Amino acid sequence: MCGIVGYVGPNSSIDVLLRGLSRLEYRGYDSAGVAVIGTDAHLRTRKHAGKLKVLLDELKASPIQDGQTGIGHTRWATHGGPTDGNAHPHLGDAGKLALIHNGIIENFASLKEELLLDGETFTSETDSEVVAIMAGRAYRETGDLTRAMREVVARLEGAFTLLIVHEDRPGEVVGARRNSPLVIGLGDGENFLGSDVAAFVEFTRRAVEIGQDQIVTIRPDSVEVTDFDGNPVETREYEIAWDASASEKGGWSSFMRKEISEEPDAVANTLRGRVHEGEVLLPELGVLDDAVLASLDRIVIIGCGTAAYAGMLGTYAIESWARIPVEVELSHEFRYRNPVINERTLVVSISQSGETMDTLMAVKYARGEGARTLSICNTQGSSIPRESEAVLYTHAGPEVAVASTKAFVAQVTALYLLGLHLASVRGTLSADEITASINELLAIPGKLADVLIASADIGQLAGWMADTRSVLFLGRNVGFPVALEGALKLKELAYIHAEGFAAGELKHGPIALIEPGQIVFVIVPSPRDPNSLHPKVVSNIQEIRARGARVIAIAEKGDAAVLPFADEVIPIPLAAPMFEPLLAVVPLHIFALELATAKGLDVDQPRNLAKSVTVE
Ligand code: M6R
Repeated sequence: MCGIVGYVGPNSSIDVLLRGLSRLEYRGYDSAGVAVIGTDAHLRTRKHAGKLKVLLDELKASPIQDGQTGIGHTRWATHGGPTDGNAHPHLGDAGKLALIHNGIIENFASLKEELLLDGETFTSETDSEVVAIMAGRAYRETGDLTRAMREVVARLEGAFTLLIVHEDRPGEVVGARRNSPLVIGLGDGENFLGSDVAAFVEFTRRAVEIGQDQIVTIRPDSVEVTDFDGNPVETREYEIAWDASASEKGGWSSFMRKEISEEPDAVANTLRGRVHEGEVLLPELGVLDDAVLASLDRIVIIGCGTAAYAGMLGTYAIESWARIPVEVELSHEFRYRNPVINERTLVVSISQSGETMDTLMAVKYARGEGARTLSICNTQGSSIPRESEAVLYTHAGPEVAVASTKAFVAQVTALYLLGLHLASVRGTLSADEITASINELLAIPGKLADVLIASADIGQLAGWMADTRSVLFLGRNVGFPVALEGALKLKELAYIHAEGFAAGELKHGPIALIEPGQIVFVIVPSPRDPNSLHPKVVSNIQEIRARGARVIAIAEKGDAAVLPFADEVIPIPLAAPMFEPLLAVVPLHIFALELATAKGLDVDQPRNLAKSVTVE
């Protein structure tokens, strides 16, 4: 939520900020704005409601004086609607100081009251403007921008990343963070700040993590990081593992289309270096060594949205292979219901961004209760891995489209690796069984490439359904999370009613929704598995067909039993049952993309959403 970028250096700050914002726009696109200290030492801001393009056009039509110091913001609205007035930056000290903010200031109302009584006036409905006014006052008193930031954050409650600049201090940007992301980019005679490394990866691949409750001051030749009391803190530099081209569309019509095409690579890269001669190798588990893993009596997987559905698949795999009780829970529900966890519980958090506030808070809570913590995350240097004892990075590469696709298959792959590792440590699968599952996993990228080819006609199918108002998704066992994921994608991209059900639950209520013409996707399990639920799912299909449903089956290639009962069959390659979800989910990702495209919607930036949900 909200993208933040800051720059000091010899180059045009407007250019650097706008390039950064274009890579951060996925974080929020209700408005965009910049503030720059011009070469004449005056601060100028320009901000507009709407997508970044509106600001770009405006700056082209009527440029502002450029300079070498600036901050930029792209907003996902929380306090106050998406208007020009509520857009960031906000101003303090009679327009000489500019501030941008990501997060929520929980005590803003009482602070605002205090400022109003003291004669201050406000031009927006945001919590952020309160902080801008406070920072302006603190700067007037101290004449020191870093001290001003220190005084302000001491009074704030909630979650925030803040950046400030003041026209008296060209060549200086001061940032602060609490429970909200901020990273430093180290350049040569220039430095950067960003909500994530995408903000500056085009200019430098050297990054530094900023810890919780820390303040950073960047100048062209220096970076100083302190805690909120002003004590210097040690920082860790790392190299960004991908380059700018990885976060560009590269000729694709949308990021989402590009990212779906990268699903085979996301699985292959997540496996790379982690399997060797039939064994799973996870040295990054570090302190979560074999003794700790053997002592566990329970695993709780937490996440939100698509990450939670990946987690559901983890419960089937880990429980079945490692014979340990596994539950999955939405992070925000887990955190606030006083769950029973202790040092023999492993809490596995899943997050593409590593910044989802609900999950971050749940991880902190779990640690506080003494549970062991592992994160499965796609974003290096992000907050959730830093709060966890160990991290398994999914190497899916940057995911820019708001809808999560390649991150999902990478998360499921990481969970499967974890499950097989646990089974090995706990002796619940034989070496041969583990090797067989590893071989299944290694074959998935090639099969995914086949699924992409076989899904070429889904665009046409979706085109016929552009006016559809409701789509249902059914699956059993490991097909159930796939059904939920298919429904979520359709809701968020095509804005139509979509629901996923466990097929066995149908007759307990949802079947009443079926009326002639209702489109139902059914994830059909393999008929080759002796324990397969295949006959039961085929019966479910018959039940809904008898009531007029139009059935689109996602079924194993050559599954003749399903053909007579489905209106359309999307074939997927043969795989062992536990691994089928990795293949079955891709046609659903494509269907959501194509239906939204057929409706003329923006698939990368669906309405009301943001990629990284950094507020609770
Ligand atoms: O970054 P995270 O994986 O923690 O994000 C979790 C959810 O917000 C995310 O998966 C969301 O549901 C997606 N927009 C779904 O496509």
